[in-house]
Amino acid sequence: MKKIILTSVRTKDLKKEQILSICKLKNSFWSWSIPKQLEWFKGNVKKMDINNMLTINDNLVGYTLLRKRSTFIEKKHFSYFYFDTFIVHSSFRKKGLGETLMLFNNKIIKSLKKHSFLICKKNLISFYVKFNWKILPVTRFKIMDHRPFWFTNKSSINGMTYNFSNKVKKKILYYINSKK
Ligand SMILES: CC(C)(COP(=O)(O)OP(=O)(O)OC[C@H]1O[C@@H](n2cnc3c(N)ncnc32)[C@H](O)[C@@H]1OP(=O)(O)O)[C@@H](O)C(=O)NCCC(=O)NCCS
Repeated sequence: MKKIILTSVRTKDLKKEQILSICKLKNSFWSWSIPKQLEWFKGNVKKMDINNMLTINDNLVGYTLLRKRSTFIEKKHFSYFYFDTFIVHSSFRKKGLGETLMLFNNKIIKSLKKHSFLICKKNLISFYVKFNWKILPVTRFKIMDHRPFWFTNKSSINGMTYNFSNKVKKKILYYINSKK
């Protein structure tokens, strides 16, 4: 019998084996090598970041990283969750597990009372819209310290938010990597 479990764990509470499983899962799609994945994890994932995991019979099948980071709106500082690394293992796709994980991610974001922001390619917009994420027009935000490897021009980056007040009309400055 399949036992599906969803857990949300701060990085500081992750076990070494869990970090290795996360890196292996990520490497099955973004294949850089396990040592490189581990190096990236060590260098970029902070203690208070949130690791949402979907396991089936104790095997990691789905993962999302919510990175607690800074944003400025009219020079006022807020924290938000940068939604990163949403993945379901290729052997388990198209079975509704992405949906299960996405609903869990949304629930966690709401419970933390912050908004979340992601960037994606055009083909995934409709997926996130299905889960109540909203498109943030390109003129409304600026990413201050990051350029994805698939960047070609500014309009190739689609910004989306969840749990965000639609009253905010000013430009939103997002930090993803730096300590700011
Ligand atoms: C995106 C991803 C997590 C979806 O996982 P999944 O388990 O296959 O998703 P589900 O089975 O729950 O699908 C839910 C719905 O989304 C749709 N969907 C899945 N992948 C999609 C995609 N790439 N674009 C648009 N819709 C998609 C499915 O068709 C399904 O719709 P339906 O219920 O109307 O049939 C998975 O394809 C994946 O890991 N991809 C590689 C990593 C990636 O691209 N991550 C996103 C980075 S921004």
